[in-house]
Amino acid sequence: MKRVGILISGRGSNMVSLLDAMDRGDIQARCAVVVSNVYGAPGLSVAEERGVPTFVVDHRQSSTRKDHDNKVLRILVEHGVQIVCLAGYMRILSPMFVKAFEGRLLNIHPSLLPSFPGLHVQQKAIDHGARFSGCTVHFVDDQVDHGCIFLQAVVPILPGDDEVALSKRILDYEHRIYPTALKLLCEEKAILRDGKVHLSLDDEEYRHLLADFICPAEDP
Ligand code: GRF
Repeated sequence: MKRVGILISGRGSNMVSLLDAMDRGDIQARCAVVVSNVYGAPGLSVAEERGVPTFVVDHRQSSTRKDHDNKVLRILVEHGVQIVCLAGYMRILSPMFVKAFEGRLLNIHPSLLPSFPGLHVQQKAIDHGARFSGCTVHFVDDQVDHGCIFLQAVVPILPGDDEVALSKRILDYEHRIYPTALKLLCEEKAILRDGKVHLSLDDEEYRHLLADFICPAEDP
């Protein structure tokens, strides 16, 4: 059983999708701790209700990024965390933190990276007239929404879509790819090596994996 730490800043729906998958036994891991940089982040109470230890490390109480990240790192180490999942964690991480969890630090982002890093990316995709968007699980480096791509899901942009509608369609697929990525990492079927994510899957498994992550454009 791997020990996973989840970092959140907000509502924590991706955190819940990971907790659900671990609780169901789909992933051979358990969540050892949830840490937020925001007091009252809605996801914290959800984690507490599920019996997961939670901590808040308010970034405003640290003078440097490194100092803040050191406090978070200490909590993760104290809880024996081996893998860290960022789930709506609105902080850039210091190189020190990234290095400490190299190859074991994941993020999810609601676009097909490297297109549209940053914020309000669903609206940006609509504004650019993109036909497809989606979501990406990637290994984290010290740049924003950057790092080796691990898994992606493709989601169509439909006539009349606004930011809310597209965000909802993408979020549904976020909740599918993030647990899948964590499972692959825990099973050591995904390894970050030489700047690429190597998946130990045969051709058929790989095709199935991708087929699951294409959202149809027609009505269900
Ligand atoms: C998600 O869209 C995620 O991709 C992005 O921030 C949002 C967090 O949502 N990084 P939630 O807190 O997981 O519900």
